[in-house]
Amino acid sequence: MIIGHEREFALVVRALSKGIPVILEGEAGTGKTEMAKEAARLLKRHLYRVDGDQELSSLKIQGWFDPPMVLSKGYSWESFLPGPLSQAMTQGGIFFFNEVNRAPSETINAVLTALDERMITIPRLGTITAEPAFGCVFTCNPLDRVGTNPLPQAFFDRCVWLQLDHLPLEQAMAVVQLRTDEDDPELVRLMCRITEGTRKHQDVVKGGSIRAAIFMVKLASSIRSQGEDPCGEMLLKEIAKSALTKKIRLRYNSELTEEQVVEDIVNRVLGISTEKKKTA
Ligand SMILES: Nc1ncnc2c1ncn2[C@@H]1O[C@H](COP(=O)(O)OP(=O)(O)OP(=O)(O)O)[C@@H](O)[C@H]1O
Ligand SMILES: [Mg+2]
Repeated sequence: MIIGHEREFALVVRALSKGIPVILEGEAGTGKTEMAKEAARLLKRHLYRVDGDQELSSLKIQGWFDPPMVLSKGYSWESFLPGPLSQAMTQGGIFFFNEVNRAPSETINAVLTALDERMITIPRLGTITAEPAFGCVFTCNPLDRVGTNPLPQAFFDRCVWLQLDHLPLEQAMAVVQLRTDEDDPELVRLMCRITEGTRKHQDVVKGGSIRAAIFMVKLASSIRSQGEDPCGEMLLKEIAKSALTKKIRLRYNSELTEEQVVEDIVNRVLGISTEKKKTA
């Protein structure tokens, strides 16, 4: 189930229905994977997934020959083990290429003919042509700069591009509630506000995602089940630091450490609720 991002989701489904490849760009935890999975579910198509990294070769996505089979059968379709791209094309599924900008450009180039001509050529075998239901979704993270390659213009030229932003507070709360089954909306709100606070803090260039809020709610609910109050200052800071410290990136000239920034954010969030209590 997708919460919020209605227009974006509708566009993804529409594009896939028309055979148009989609590239989803967004920071970690903005729901790119969830959106691709949900679109595939709605369209009743299987998702064939591959994750980009520097070792990902075109063979791994197109397919390769099984050496023992080649010895007995030669280079034939029987000895060919299809990769996720070939499978998606022949089965009419969705090829989901996660973190495409982490893959070598040679691998990205190997996908291009599948995008517009809807076919790929397998050396020594021939051509694989896509079924009409074949579709592609790619994801990339604009803040991911280490170990990534700029995507070629030819790639963007063959896709529609969509940006996913972090959800606003109320919708983020609905996602966290859905993923944790937490009954206390105030606990969910608190963790979502702390997470959102990392993205608004003046010293932070990359904040935490909804995953951190999900972790914090789960930790807090476990603490609560043992009879302690997870929202007391000490425990809350402990939870927030464990969920957020390693997920945020600070400005190069920040005089604070990541842990101090997380503490500062918890103080601010608690400070606001203290003010509210006073005026109530
Ligand atoms: N709009 C949404 N509706 C429902 N669940 C969501 C939504 N956005 C995020 N989530 C949930 O938040 C978590 C993170 O989402 P997801 O894995 O899709 O993010 P992502 O953008 O693919 O992140 P990454 O770049 O790290 O792979 C998942 O548990 C997902 O189910
Ligand atoms: Mg993902």
